[in-house]
Amino acid sequence: MLFNKRPQEIDLNNLPEHIAFIMDGNGRWAKKRGMPRLVGHNAGTETLKRIVKESKKLGIKYITFYAFSTENWKRPTDEVNGLMNILVKYIQSEINEIHSNEIKINILGDINRLPEYARQQVEYALDLTKDNQSMQFNIALNYGSRDEIVMAIKKIAENCVSGALEIDEIDEEMVSSYLYTAGMPDPDLLIRTSGEFRLSNFLLWQVAYTEFKFETIYWPDFNEAALKRSIIEYQNRNRRYGAI
Ligand code: FPP
Repeated sequence: MLFNKRPQEIDLNNLPEHIAFIMDGNGRWAKKRGMPRLVGHNAGTETLKRIVKESKKLGIKYITFYAFSTENWKRPTDEVNGLMNILVKYIQSEINEIHSNEIKINILGDINRLPEYARQQVEYALDLTKDNQSMQFNIALNYGSRDEIVMAIKKIAENCVSGALEIDEIDEEMVSSYLYTAGMPDPDLLIRTSGEFRLSNFLLWQVAYTEFKFETIYWPDFNEAALKRSIIEYQNRNRRYGAI
């Protein structure tokens, strides 16, 4: 029919292997409704749950969520504590289902700065799921990309000084192996919600060839259909990696 284009479907043979998400707009979502910011973070957590499940269903191998940046400590104490409580509650309520789905949780960032009760919960989740292999679920917590790169440079320099490493051995692959994402493929697709068009110190090294998808909706309004639309758009793009 003339005006009835066939709906586009996801090509399951050409899925992005790794999708990264900047879950932005929780605060504005709540403000628009005259509610406290934490209501937005709770709504955003419901979206996170749905997207983890949908990604697993689709067969995505790696998913990465920017949950808390090294800069987020500057937010009011109530909001920081509220986010830590949300994280703990999330793990408590979801961990059994995550584990039974063979999903491995991994943290990008330094969890030593988290409050003790949150760190313990995160460590429990890491340990429980460490051998799972169906999907890797990365949570960026107290994460900053420049911080990560500085940490890698320091370790590489230490190894050069000690003689464990020759300067000529340093190449891109080696640098990647010193990052929190060591051993993982770089993201194929990065999705940021809320109409902001920036990276905010997220995976700067890893997104060299990533396709970006900026959504104008706030994170709590993102859903399975929006994820599928983004994947279809990704599949229609032409990735050249610098070639022609
Ligand atoms: C950005 O929105 C969102 C965050 C800084 C936190 C994201 C955290 C969650 C969705 C929940 C916690 C995570 C887990 C893993 C359970 P914003 O607050 O910057 O929104 P705004 O830009 O509209 O103010």
